[in-house]
Amino acid sequence: MRVELRGITKRFPGVVANADVDLEVDGGQVLALLGENGAGKSTLMNVLFGLYEPDGGEILLDGSPVRFASPAASIAAGIGMVHQHFMLVPVFSVLENVMLGVETTTRLGGLDRRAARARLVELSAAYNLQVDPDADVEDLSVGAQQRVEILKALYRQADCLILDEPTAVLTPPEIDDLFRIITTLTESGRSVIFISHKLGEVRRIADRITVLRRGEVVGTTTPAESSEADLAALMVGREVQLVVDKSPARPGQPVLRVEGLRVLDERGVAVVDGVSFEVAAGEIVAVAGVQGNGQTELVEALAGLRAVDAGTVHLDGEDVTGLQPRRLLERGMAHVPEDRQRDGVVGAFPVRDNLVLNTFRRRPFARGLRIDRRAIRDNASRLMADFDIRAASPEVAAATLSGGNQQKVIVAREFGHADRLLIAAQPTRGLDVGSIQYIHRRIVDKRDEGAAVLLVSTELDEVLALADRVIVVFRGHIVGTVPRADATRDHLGLLMAGATA
Ligand SMILES: Nc1ncnc2c1ncn2[C@@H]1O[C@H](COP(=O)(O)OP(=O)(O)OP(=O)(O)O)[C@@H](O)[C@H]1O
Ligand SMILES: [Mg+2]
Repeated sequence: MRVELRGITKRFPGVVANADVDLEVDGGQVLALLGENGAGKSTLMNVLFGLYEPDGGEILLDGSPVRFASPAASIAAGIGMVHQHFMLVPVFSVLENVMLGVETTTRLGGLDRRAARARLVELSAAYNLQVDPDADVEDLSVGAQQRVEILKALYRQADCLILDEPTAVLTPPEIDDLFRIITTLTESGRSVIFISHKLGEVRRIADRITVLRRGEVVGTTTPAESSEADLAALMVGREVQLVVDKSPARPGQPVLRVEGLRVLDERGVAVVDGVSFEVAAGEIVAVAGVQGNGQTELVEALAGLRAVDAGTVHLDGEDVTGLQPRRLLERGMAHVPEDRQRDGVVGAFPVRDNLVLNTFRRRPFARGLRIDRRAIRDNASRLMADFDIRAASPEVAAATLSGGNQQKVIVAREFGHADRLLIAAQPTRGLDVGSIQYIHRRIVDKRDEGAAVLLVSTELDEVLALADRVIVVFRGHIVGTVPRADATRDHLGLLMAGATA
């Protein structure tokens, strides 16, 4: 299906999220939509999906103007969308999620689960989207959840599929699977709009690329005409240096010492087992591994968010095993969590308060029982400027910020009190290239100020850019410790796949 947006404008209080945007994608084509955090990509797609009514402009499907008062209307017209943050019901099964809202009924008025199941099975075979119809969504990997979202859209007969940052949380093989699915979709004449911050990926999958900057279209190009550096410059409006300068580490005393750590998952399975390592002051140690090899639980245990089943954790020589997050914070530990929606921000609170979420009881934000509003406001203004957090004001609710800007709020807050140890889990997930460059710089600065840094990342580029030493985890064990000088992409890749050193 050919989709055209003409002159779309969408305003929110204090922001013009989309200003007179033109965009088009033909049937059989993949259009990539690029832009910095807060450039207006999700908003534009939410307009096309009928979630927001535009303040101006029009939408044309196969040449005919349409108006969508709701997502139900856009779905009926053949638009499907997989959102940046999934919208599945975790306690429902795959089949129930797919049927939700479009239940077919039997002659007697009951739910026709048999017919629905047959169609689901047929669709998953046709598009090679493997899922178990009876599995509960909460038990699925993110890759599988995404397949469910895509199936849900196909079940509703989407002719144009919008994928908002579908690859941010996928492993490399899952990305390959997704790209195969996208190709199958376009071969059947569907159009796909693909949003991503990963420029290599965009060049691999897109037929055309449209770039937004601060709500406006600044250019449309093709992978053949534009290198990654060209795309980055177009997005940001200046040259972006894609590597960080950093001097060799000068490690001091050990700050974090982990010995024989064992951590269990919800089902009682040891997902971290017998893990021992150290991180010294002035050193960045990266934990590399494919998503799902125990990193999440390791970080949660170190941050006091998950019970330690066996083993010990020492911080500056003191046994801190099992301490509450607040106690760890008092000892100079900061934690950028992997799941920003769940652990990172309180969506209903203003940005200003999110920036002091765990420090508002301390100086300079409080003196005894008195909260110093002014200090909290000044802190917000300073951090919003330093970290380039784009929001209409420090007073708006964090939930109204774009995904990447919510991430910057968490990073800005946590870096502020990472005096001894910074644990950063996927700190640049969902960030644009300019923001990644800035956060990388700040991580190196933290190290050079003498903090110990534990970086957990599934992105090899990030690991190679920042680490002084790399620990590779596989199925809950450390399978290799590699000094930066010996860490090559191939060597780490092999270890991550489970080959022993
Ligand atoms: N519901 C809302 N209420 C108020 N402001 C909003 C709302 N949704 C988005 N905005 C604002 O509109 C602008 C564009 O946000 P949008 O989410 O479209 O950005 P994006 O390009 O998708 O960014 P990211 O790459 O970080 O996901 C931002 O300034 C954001 O704060
Ligand atoms: Mg977005």
